[in-house]
Amino acid sequence: MKAVYENALKRIDRIPPEGLKQIIKNLSAENSIYEAALHSTLDGIIVCDLEYKPLFINRSAEKIFRLVSWTQEFALWEQLNDDNLANFFRKALVADETVLNREISLNRHGGTRVISISISALVSEGKISGNLIHLEDITDKRRREAQLRRAESLAALTTLAAGVAHEIKNPLASIRIQLGIIRRILEKNRTKKTESIFHNISLVEQEIDRLNSIVVDFLFAVRPMDITLILDRAEEVVQEVVELMSHEAEDQHISIVTKIEPNLPDVMIDRKNLKQALLNIVKNAMAAMPDGGVLTISVFVRNDELQIAVSDTGIGIPEELMAKIFEPYFTTKESGTGLGLTITFKIVKEHNGEITVESAPSKGSTFTIHLPLPQPEQKSLPPWEDGVQIEGSHMED
Ligand SMILES: Nc1ncnc2c1ncn2[C@@H]1O[C@H](COP(=O)(O)OP(=O)(O)OP(=O)(O)O)[C@@H](O)[C@H]1O
Ligand SMILES: [Mg+2]
Repeated sequence: MKAVYENALKRIDRIPPEGLKQIIKNLSAENSIYEAALHSTLDGIIVCDLEYKPLFINRSAEKIFRLVSWTQEFALWEQLNDDNLANFFRKALVADETVLNREISLNRHGGTRVISISISALVSEGKISGNLIHLEDITDKRRREAQLRRAESLAALTTLAAGVAHEIKNPLASIRIQLGIIRRILEKNRTKKTESIFHNISLVEQEIDRLNSIVVDFLFAVRPMDITLILDRAEEVVQEVVELMSHEAEDQHISIVTKIEPNLPDVMIDRKNLKQALLNIVKNAMAAMPDGGVLTISVFVRNDELQIAVSDTGIGIPEELMAKIFEPYFTTKESGTGLGLTITFKIVKEHNGEITVESAPSKGSTFTIHLPLPQPEQKSLPPWEDGVQIEGSHMED
């Protein structure tokens, strides 16, 4: 008890009614603060007397235990609506155990919540006067820990897989070289009989190339990127991509339309990587138009960004697949690896940019790369150079 109240208690008979009123007012104000603090904490707090009847239950505890009403007349466990919980408290309180962070799962409509419960003796003026129960909802904490563990084991697995992929690359290259040698030897004695062997060699070569591109794409997707951003002309990269794909487009009856806004500003890009990102989008767009169509690539400035939009008039993407297309290995193609958009996403992120998609099934899709425009460096002038007088400052000659 505070000294001021102890003193007041000693001379209570001599305190005039006005003084008593003031003391009670002070006491009540202090009490309200303590109560408000206890009710405001996110942790649940329950105070029980020596007969395990609750004297105080704060709002968080009421919420955690879904206690709509409670009374000081019955033991705590008699008022809990969950049998497991009631059993736990009955045993722990009666045994006078000190409980430290015991985890209990409670089934709730929104899913299972994990509650950490601690019980300790309530000590007041050197004497045990009851029990203090502390509750903490650790569901989200546990979830975050589990996510972190999953991310860590995934990272370890990725490193391992990258190592294996890297080891596959070299023997693959050597198999390709050896096949080339075999082809040359056979070439010298080419007869009708050996003709079918050339066909088999071509098939093996195609499979090797496919395997190699899977490994290369995989390594590109998982390894940290070697990227150097410099102020450069993004529209030139777009033109390079168009040139590169023009023959293939013609073969597939696809006409390419480029709309490049005049006087575009330079942006921070890594030409080689941006080209790869765009190529992946353009290849997808072309694959989405098996019967031909129009591929439109526009480059323009909007909302402080340089935007590169690639539109096709192809099959479109069903709404339910939209969230998946950037996931590694997600593909709807027979011979796709599903890494194209993963790599594009990674490159765009390295450019501090964003990528957005709009699509309507059987009408077409638009993939837009958003690159931030370089912001002019803001120079903060000292106030006196800005003609602003600083109050109280005097320039002396
Ligand atoms: N323009 C598009 N129109 C329709 N579907 C698309 C388009 N672009 C992407 N998709 C869908 O997204 C999926 C994933 O694309 P992503 O480029 O990542 O892999 P992929 O093209 O299947 O294989 P690859 O690794 O060879 O590129 C595609 O399989 C396809 O279903
Ligand atoms: Mg692709």
